[in-house]
Amino acid sequence: MIADENLGNYPAVKQLLTGSALPVSGKLVASSGSNQSWEIQAQEIAVISSAPDSYPLQKKRHSDEFLRTIAHLRPRTNKYGAAFRIRSDLSLAIHAFFKDRGFRYLHSPVITASDCEGAGELFRVTSFDLNRVPIKNGTVDYEQDFFGKEANLTVSGQLAAEMVALALGDVYTFGPTFRAENSNTRRHAAEFWMIEPEMAFCDLHGNMDLGEELVKHLVTFVLEECREDLDLFARFVDKSLVATLAAIASADFVRLPYTEAVELLIRSNRHFEYAPAYGKDLQTEHERHLSEDHFKKPVIVHDYPKDIKPFYMRLNDDNRTVAAMDILLPGIGEIIGGSQREERLAVLESRMEELGMAQEPYWWYLDSRRYGSVEHSGFGLGFERLLMLVTGIGNIRDVIPFPRTPKGIDF
Ligand code: 4AD
Ligand code: MG
Repeated sequence: MIADENLGNYPAVKQLLTGSALPVSGKLVASSGSNQSWEIQAQEIAVISSAPDSYPLQKKRHSDEFLRTIAHLRPRTNKYGAAFRIRSDLSLAIHAFFKDRGFRYLHSPVITASDCEGAGELFRVTSFDLNRVPIKNGTVDYEQDFFGKEANLTVSGQLAAEMVALALGDVYTFGPTFRAENSNTRRHAAEFWMIEPEMAFCDLHGNMDLGEELVKHLVTFVLEECREDLDLFARFVDKSLVATLAAIASADFVRLPYTEAVELLIRSNRHFEYAPAYGKDLQTEHERHLSEDHFKKPVIVHDYPKDIKPFYMRLNDDNRTVAAMDILLPGIGEIIGGSQREERLAVLESRMEELGMAQEPYWWYLDSRRYGSVEHSGFGLGFERLLMLVTGIGNIRDVIPFPRTPKGIDF
């Protein structure tokens, strides 16, 4: 904006500092300034609010770490503005993707009584006065709590999605998910958004096909529809971003059985912090070696040992592995985790027994295997990890407006 001395309130305008709010009317003209195509030659400037010089965002580059301490103001910067616009556009693109393919959108509950993943990383929900929790026989008496039993924030909408998929066919959820996982990494948040399609009459192969199609579709969407914001990240955050995204959009994802993945990691002779071994879960460093160094493209690892996966995954004929799949991306690691579900009642019950799970609280889930059970599959895609991919932003705290992480909930 250019203001010249002929403006009636020029002296006041001259005093204005960064962070002030002003409606400006004037002429939009081609700019001779660098880094901008247009400028306004102001004819009238009203001052709605003038900011004092303590305004924390000044005309210079601020570090991501500093901007996290002013998360209430950072949407006003170019970078975060672009990130949150892409976040909004991509959300709508996800709904459009599923609508075009005949999926129905399901609102799964945020408060549940189950732990879908069985990892115990739960945030409790209670209406007890925590200073006066009722105790019966030495333990908390949840019967007196709001729901009459232990409740928590959901770690996944999957169990609900399975019930509705067995009625409506193909469905998906897209909502907030919560994990009290105390891992302070750049890829984990305590509150994140997950997209979870669930398909009736679909096996693991169909599931992998949909995961691959969804990732490529959304990457292509950003390349084509969010170009202006994408260019900002390509210039200031990651110079190779557009090439990386174009490569993913056109890649054939590698499909690799878990057993072969482990062999490949062992044969790589690389020094990993955690030695790869059959029966152990893949660590981030392993996932990144596979997709970044070895194949240099997205990899779908499938058929994991049952002992490292949750109760609901379908047991393979070898009795050792389950029909699971994870999609791994260069630079990101795991973006999708999913499986074909165990639809056979007897197998599911014996699996739960093996894991020492009480069956009674899952009576309704088991009912779905008792009545009209069919093969079905689904997965979860971490929305923030997708945003890290398409913006090149390296920390999950910077792709969600107000991140929740261990000891982080100021805003
Ligand atoms: O692999 P996960 O734990 O799978 C499930 O929850 C299944 N019930 C999904 C399903 O089959 N419907 O999580 C799925 C994805 C991960 O691949 C990752 O992208 C993301 O969710 N995710 C997280 N993102 C950010 N912060 C965390 N703490 C995350 N935990 C998982
Ligand atoms: Mg997973």
